Amino acid sequence: MTPDFFVVAHARDIGHGRMWCVRLNTHHILIANIKGTYYAVGGLCTHEDVSLCTGALQGETVKCPLHGSRFSVRTGAVLDGPAEDALMVYPVRVEGDDILISLQTEAGCL
Ligand code: FES
Repeated sequence: MTPDFFVVAHARDIGHGRMWCVRLNTHHILIANIKGTYYAVGGLCTHEDVSLCTGALQGETVKCPLHGSRFSVRTGAVLDGPAEDALMVYPVRVEGDDILISLQTEAGCL
C-alpha cells in the first residue's frame, strides 16, 4: 500500500542549515534542511517532551534546549543523553516547493 503524504511546509521557508516545526494530526514534527536534503523527525525530545524547535541545529544534529541531549536528524538516533530513546523518523518527499510527510511506514501507520 502506498503511504499518504501531506504537504506540511514549503522548501523556500527552510533554508540550508535551518529547521522548521509543524504539527500533523497529533504528531510534532521537526523538518531540517541539511545541504538541500530535507529530513523529518519527531519534534519533541524523548527525555521530557520539550520542543526541539527552540534547540540548536548543528550540522546533522539537533540539540535539546533543556538538558542538552543531541539527536541525529537523519536517523533520529540519540547521540548524547540524557535522552535514551530515538526520535521517530518520518518519510519525506519534495515536489516542487512542497515538502510532504507521511505518517505511515512499512511497519504501518505511526
Ligand atoms: S528534555 Fe531534552 S534532554 Fe531533557
